[in-house]
Amino acid sequence: MSCSKAAVRSNRQVSPDFYLLEAEWPSLDDAPGSDGIPAIRAGQFCMLRSWDSIPVLSRPISVFDADGNRVSFLYKTVGRGTAIFSRLKPGDSITIQGPLGNGFPMELCSTASGRVAMVGGGAGIAPLYLGAKQYKAAGCTVDLYLGFSGAAYNEVSRATCNEVSRAAFLTEEYRDRADSITVNVGGFITDAVDPVGYDAIFTCGPEVMMKALWEKCKAAGAGDKLFVSLEARMACGVGACYGCSRKTASAFRENGAFKENGAFRENGGNKKVCKDGPVFPAQEVFGL
Ligand SMILES: Cc1cc2nc3c(=O)[nH]c(=O)nc-3n(C[C@H](O)[C@H](O)[C@H](O)COP(=O)(O)OP(=O)(O)OC[C@H]3O[C@@H](n4cnc5c(N)ncnc54)[C@H](O)[C@@H]3O)c2cc1C
Ligand code: FES
Repeated sequence: MSCSKAAVRSNRQVSPDFYLLEAEWPSLDDAPGSDGIPAIRAGQFCMLRSWDSIPVLSRPISVFDADGNRVSFLYKTVGRGTAIFSRLKPGDSITIQGPLGNGFPMELCSTASGRVAMVGGGAGIAPLYLGAKQYKAAGCTVDLYLGFSGAAYNEVSRATCNEVSRAAFLTEEYRDRADSITVNVGGFITDAVDPVGYDAIFTCGPEVMMKALWEKCKAAGAGDKLFVSLEARMACGVGACYGCSRKTASAFRENGAFKENGAFRENGGNKKVCKDGPVFPAQEVFGL
């Protein structure tokens, strides 16, 4: 993990509220370790800032892609920090701290070499690009399922909407990374997923979407195949402030009953989304 300044190479608006920022980051070394596992794993994130003191906190954004000393981030403008990012120009400086957290379990690559589904909603599609790339490189078959809210496209017809989404959300780039891709705008992308037959299913996006997928996987006897990437408001991003803590099934099981003001436990109990996650087995998150 490092924290250093990087130079923005490009910052492209890819839809009304999504941007793709690429930076040159000399501290980055994405070469695989001796175990063949990439140094940056899909699902990991970085804390980004391109301001001095205000806003106070850096913002957590997933790694979209990493190659050599280039790293990119796909982000949605929702507030002050991401609005500042959207105004960055080539040559501007951005501070990148990372890679942070536990990404998708790459050890499944070597053993599964089977079928992997990746299900993303909205900004949750961001980590799936590198995910598809890494699992494909490891020999897996990857089916991508990308869902978007239709809210941004109310003024265009459904047919146009799908055209817009195809261009806007980089689905052509995603298509090159996967064996199949299914896109849904304005509906439920989880409806398109049949969990049976997959060795692993990864999901990132609105929690209501991930929970629906969990219910579907559980009903199909595939609950243990599902991994979810959680979001939480983060202050430090490195496990020091407990700001992103989340109760988990292991807390429930180990404590018997979760105590709202209970002490944090070293093993089990509350988990920190930034350090223990953001990727968790779904049963740990939704199996409460
Ligand atoms: C591990 C992780 C990875 C992420 N990866 C991406 C990514 O790849 N692309 C992307 O677009 N976004 C990602 N996010 C969400 C991103 O961090 C927030 O959208 C961003 O911090 C908002 O900053 P802001 O200053 O623009 O908004 P603020 O002004 O801080 O808030 C604006 C609105 O966004 C909500 N919000 C702020 N932070 C979060 C958060 N962490 N989770 C959920 N809602 C939030 C607030 O409740 C508020 O409604 C990720 C979050 C986490 C925890
Ligand atoms: S953000 Fe500080 S512990 Fe997770």
